[in-house]
Parts: sequence; structure tokens; C-alpha cells
Amino acid sequence: MTVDKKGLLEKFPRSPDVLLALLHELQRANPQNYLTPEDLALAAEHLGLPLSRVRDAVTFYTMFSLRPRGKHIIRVCDSPNCHLFGAWSVVEEIKEFLGIEVGETTPDGLFTLELTSCLGACGVAPVMMVDDEVFGNLRPERVREILRRFKGEG
Ligand code: FES
Repeated sequence: MTVDKKGLLEKFPRSPDVLLALLHELQRANPQNYLTPEDLALAAEHLGLPLSRVRDAVTFYTMFSLRPRGKHIIRVCDSPNCHLFGAWSVVEEIKEFLGIEVGETTPDGLFTLELTSCLGACGVAPVMMVDDEVFGNLRPERVREILRRFKGEG
């Protein structure tokens, strides 16, 4: 499906305040979950911002990517509290289940595995996000159950 990106832009006021929201929409509109150079140029033009400012925002925030990723983005919290409660065993479980390393995408294009800083859910550490959904109190069997659901198997 081809997304009408110009139509998508028109939903946003021409104000720099909406830069991050607009970039989110453009990224979401791409099945490979990333921003192309054309997307950055469209955003800059629509908001009347220098391209360098748009690029700075994209490189500063880890939720944006300039290279193709999977349909689902898994982000495991890599901050101290989650580490203390076993974040690394969660990462190992995901790596084994999907057969990828951190920063890689599964060959079927379904998942990309990333690390992230605190997701603000430290009380239920260890924590991961899949797309916009947060999962806490993770144990290896629960991790597999969650990923099977996103695969459409569970
Ligand atoms: Fe992991 Fe805060 S340290 S959610």
C-alpha cells in the first residue's frame, strides 16, 4: 500500500512544535519503520525548518531510525534498575528465540531488537516495549509468549 505522505502532512499545522509527532507519523507510514531522506525533506519543508534541525532530532531520539527495520520494534530497557532485575536474560531469550543480535532484524522482516534507556516503568523491571506496548515483570517464558502473539501465533 502506498501512503500519501503529502496528505499525511496536511493533518499537521505548519508549526515546529509538531516536529516529533510528524516524524512519528512519517516513520509509521513506512512498513520498514524508518525515515527516508525524502521524509526528512518533506518534514523540513512542511514545517519551514532547516533540514539540519530535522536531522538532529532524528539522530537524537532513539525511537527514530534512518535505516530499514522490522515491522515490530522490540526495545529492552538497558538502564541500571532493569539490569539489576535481569534485563540481560530477557535480551538473551529474545536473541535465542528470534535468532538475531541486538540491532538486527529477523530475515522475515518482522522484528528488530534494540536496547533503550529507562522506559519509566522501573517498578515492574525488567521491562521491554514492543511497538507502543510496555511489558514488565518479564521472565523468559513470558517473553516468548509475548513475541508469539506479535508473530500471530499466540
Ligand atoms: Fe528500566 Fe526504568 S530502569 S524502566
